[in-house]
Amino acid sequence: MNFADSEILASILTADGYTPIDDYKKADLILVNTCSIRDHAEQRVFNRLNEFSSLKKRSPHVKIGIVGCMAERLKEHLLEEQLQVDLVAGPDAYRSLPLLLAQVEDGQKGINTILSESETYDDIKPVKTDTNGVTAFISIMRGCENFCAYCVVPYTRGKERSRNAETIIDEARLLFEQGYREITLLGQNVNSYKCGTVGFPQLIAQVAEINSQLRVRFATSHPKDISDELLTVIAQYDNVCKSIHLPVQSGSDATLQKMNRKYTRQWYLNRIEAIKRIIPDCTISTDIIAGFCGETEKDHNDTLTLMREVGYSSAFMFKYSERPDTFAAENYKDDVPEEIKLRRLNEIINLQRELSLASNEKETGLIREILIEGVSRRNLLQSYGRTSQNKVVVFDNPAQIKAGVYANVKILRCTPATLIGELTQSRAHR
Ligand code: 5AD
Ligand code: SF4
Repeated sequence: MNFADSEILASILTADGYTPIDDYKKADLILVNTCSIRDHAEQRVFNRLNEFSSLKKRSPHVKIGIVGCMAERLKEHLLEEQLQVDLVAGPDAYRSLPLLLAQVEDGQKGINTILSESETYDDIKPVKTDTNGVTAFISIMRGCENFCAYCVVPYTRGKERSRNAETIIDEARLLFEQGYREITLLGQNVNSYKCGTVGFPQLIAQVAEINSQLRVRFATSHPKDISDELLTVIAQYDNVCKSIHLPVQSGSDATLQKMNRKYTRQWYLNRIEAIKRIIPDCTISTDIIAGFCGETEKDHNDTLTLMREVGYSSAFMFKYSERPDTFAAENYKDDVPEEIKLRRLNEIINLQRELSLASNEKETGLIREILIEGVSRRNLLQSYGRTSQNKVVVFDNPAQIKAGVYANVKILRCTPATLIGELTQSRAHR
């Protein structure tokens, strides 16, 4: 999400006469696009700010701005003297950046943290600043109103709103014409996308129909509204990728209820059953939080058994981190001791490693189509790409077939993180 937002920032600033550069040490303006999801993310930003303020001591003309969720959450507190910050802009305030920067040039501080009910930046063509030229993100909605008890996002990103469908299709078509071959449609909860009569299943079909050589992915889905209609559309189009990220957070009904996730373990498992039935070749990944308020050993075990039952291909796994002002922070005690949180997290990580390996082992011997994304960092004679199921395949590429081309590879071996394959043929067209 922040990656896509940075492209919007780059677009607004480019129109205002700025040019993006690679080395921040040579920049006149440094904007830090921030995340508040866990305390660790915010601590990393404070560490970077230390680094930037010593840069500023050497070059006083350098301006520093904090944008995104931390700006929204901490507001004018970020303008305290010792942080050396000149500008603060929340996620809905990016259009006012030129104005804020003009104030900063006048020697004032610039701040705007007003949230909007309608801002989607739909007319802004993102400027790609850090790209492989093959895969791109398109933000299709902003905000979230699910109010999961642990989560700060509804407070930092505001009300849910969908972007105009036509501008999404236009952007996808333009990216395809520029050579991009994979688009990830982004939002906090893409399944509740709605623009007039266009819901998410219709939107994804329209993007898939731009060209059969354009792959479509999406993130993230809330389990409560992953419908059979959507699953049927995913099954219908070869170029809609067969991998679904479906954050479960916990396998325990008691914890899910406290988290305000609005589904039960059984309900979630029914959706998993629907995915496996309607899209048999689909991988499923997830997000899990270890050690939420009041979590017992039994609750934790329920998470482990659910992971096995689903057989996730991969997962993002976190220790619960209390966020100020959320429902959980106000109403529950963060009562699972740190060492127990850590032990439970490690158990979850170790189990996932086993499940990821099992999921990858099922691929060995198969021939899979991959989209080549680039040259391997470890070995320049090797390239890598991803399968429709979102698995990374590394393979020898002596003929130097380029990024952006589809190729067939036979899967020879694997680790928990990667498949190792050999090229069987490549082709520019499906
Ligand atoms: N503590 C730990 N993890 C969190 N997430 C969201 N809020 C918190 C929190 N307070 C995780 C959830 C979510 C992912 C993006 O981050 O798993 O799906
Ligand atoms: Fe946070 Fe829940 Fe919204 Fe995801 S769905 S952003 S976890 S409140």
